[in-house]
Amino acid sequence: MNITPLQKITYGLYVVGTSDKGRPTGCIINTCFQVTSENPIVAISMNKNNYTHDAIISHRRFSLAILAEESDTSLITTFGFQSGRDRNKYDGRDYTWQHDVPILKGKFSGHIVCELLHVADNETHDVFFARVIDTLPDDGTPMTYTYYHQVIKGRAPKNAPTYVEEEKAPATEAPQTTTSTKRYVCEVCGYIHEGELPDDYKCPVCQAPRSCFKEL
Ligand SMILES: Cc1cc2nc3c(=O)[nH]c(=O)nc-3n(C[C@H](O)[C@H](O)[C@H](O)COP(=O)(O)O)c2cc1C
Repeated sequence: MNITPLQKITYGLYVVGTSDKGRPTGCIINTCFQVTSENPIVAISMNKNNYTHDAIISHRRFSLAILAEESDTSLITTFGFQSGRDRNKYDGRDYTWQHDVPILKGKFSGHIVCELLHVADNETHDVFFARVIDTLPDDGTPMTYTYYHQVIKGRAPKNAPTYVEEEKAPATEAPQTTTSTKRYVCEVCGYIHEGELPDDYKCPVCQAPRSCFKEL
């Protein structure tokens, strides 16, 4: 099957945050949409292997920080490529608690606080349907998934519903180069580097060391 049309579906990017028995935890998602307008319901798709998945099922509440183009991109590194199983992702971040969920401070397009209504099983992922119980407006320009790919040159890891293996990624995400230019892929996040790799090189998206890069 040609997956190119699937890659034309548009998304935003969000930090979904929740409480893990009082400890803030969360991850990056791109899969969020509004399901109903009156007394709104939203839906998010969560990989069952993500720590945040289990934390939301236990806590039954979560926040969505809508990432803006002006947002600190290290949020994507921390929340999108590391797990709350291994570290406290909110350490060193400015945040408050509201409605018993963490709300990140900084440049965003707004925040949404949600209460879990029900869970739909979809093989590798569960879709969480949730009632919006509060919102906090902000004025950043929403970061689209396309902006993330084309401007930040980021990729999605295996647990993201939109993950694409490097071999199947379209040319727009990995620009054409002359055959003499070496290309390396970061095996952690899929970022593609063109040209020689210095020994002290670190992935600009996920901070993985040079040893995590494989020549294409
Ligand atoms: C751009 C991007 C989009 C992502 N979208 C999703 C998503 O929609 N759903 C999901 O379950 N994981 C998604 N992920 C993957 C999780 O953020 C990632 O697996 C994270 O490390 C999980 O952390 P946790 O174990 O603390 O929950 C995405 C990651 C990135 C970088």
